[in-house]
Amino acid sequence: MPDDRATRPSHDGLSNQSGLSRRRLLAGAAAGLGAAGVGAAGGYALGAASVALPIEPTTTPNPVAFGDVAGIGSAVVSFFGDHQAGIELEPQAHSSFLAFTLTPAADRAGIRRMLRLITDDAARLTAGRPALADTEPELAVAPARLTVTVGFGPALVDRVDSSARPAWLAPLESFAIDRLEERWSGGDLLLEVASDDALAIAHASRMLVKDIRRYATLRWRQDGFRQAAGALTPGATQRNLFGQLDGTANSFLNSDEFARVVWGTRTGPEWLVGGTSYVLRRIAMNLNTWDELARDGREQAIGRRLDSGAPLTGTLEQDAPDFGALTALGLPVISPIAHIARARVADPTQRIFRRGYNYEFTSSTTVDAGLIFGAFQADPVAQFLPIQRRLAEVDLMNIWTTPIGSAVFAIPPGCAEGGFVGETLF
Ligand code: HEM
Repeated sequence: MPDDRATRPSHDGLSNQSGLSRRRLLAGAAAGLGAAGVGAAGGYALGAASVALPIEPTTTPNPVAFGDVAGIGSAVVSFFGDHQAGIELEPQAHSSFLAFTLTPAADRAGIRRMLRLITDDAARLTAGRPALADTEPELAVAPARLTVTVGFGPALVDRVDSSARPAWLAPLESFAIDRLEERWSGGDLLLEVASDDALAIAHASRMLVKDIRRYATLRWRQDGFRQAAGALTPGATQRNLFGQLDGTANSFLNSDEFARVVWGTRTGPEWLVGGTSYVLRRIAMNLNTWDELARDGREQAIGRRLDSGAPLTGTLEQDAPDFGALTALGLPVISPIAHIARARVADPTQRIFRRGYNYEFTSSTTVDAGLIFGAFQADPVAQFLPIQRRLAEVDLMNIWTTPIGSAVFAIPPGCAEGGFVGETLF
């Protein structure tokens, strides 16, 4: 397997052909220029002239001050495995979704190099180790369940091998409820960087964006949050910004159902075995008009109680909804156009796995809030689309929600140490 690192672009755009690590180059350059008034902090901005200085390779270990890392900070999720990390995992408190557009340098060979760079640094950072040429290595030491999940958009697969692209890897059909904005839609490559610590995400994202900037430029970024790790009883369902328990009727992690729903026994391309599909929709939630709705109206819209999350026909969150139950007046207790009535799937293998994150920006006069709705499923045509079509046709929740972004990605399987994510496509 060729060593892509030999031709790895340094983060300042200069090729690191010499085999010296960029960290050593910069450390040496900064030291060399220190007397001339350029401090170590200026190292990152050093230009070509400084990098050209003759620098002796050194075996001195990187003097990282590791500090005190404890509790959730020290929790590590391995980057390697049969499946990519960050999917069958209790969602972390924060997640950043970074979608990229490929540059002309990202031909088949370029994409391969880029995926190796991502794998290399993602494996280090998620293990709590600095990236290869980390400019702030101290920021890497508390990963707090940092994961990096890589997704391929249609153009990336086409550039590598267009015959390998499954038909579903394309923009979704348009729905009447959509008000999609370019700035939240599409993408050739996705990096989802999630952690219980937003600082770990900021650092890892920055390292990864720099790693691949020769091959891909950032198209959009969406930052989402959930309740903090430890804020709720483990396994408890979280609340979204409408105050609803969101995730009740989701497949349980590490269950047979999860394996069927997400990893599937697919008939699709061989390279996606162990992978899945990812639909990301940015859905605005109008909190101001939702505020105007009385509590029972809110419960009718979803078909569940706000306090317990129980269906309107039950008392406990996990009680099965009874869609046939009638009130004394003969009306359905759960409206047939309530969200759960429209979203429910009879065949459990045709479910989707939802892993959403909230976003919220409030000003004195407006509120820009909603859900970065993420759904994993082995086959989006058989699983996601029928649900989305039903909801687009009629769903009480549509009164307060509007899809404003949409993207579809293929999630390749995981890889073993020494390999790289997406290698099966090659
Ligand atoms: C802002 C938009 C949305 C909000 C606030 C929302 C909220 C909720 C809530 C509170 C529940 C009930 C609790 C639960 O089972 O998780 C639910 C259920 C569900 N939602 Fe959504 N949802 C949204 C969009 C969507 C979309 C776009 C889809 C799929 C295309 C979807 C699919 C489902 C499914 C499959 C269920 C489970 C239904 C069942 O079997 O009971 N939701 N949603």
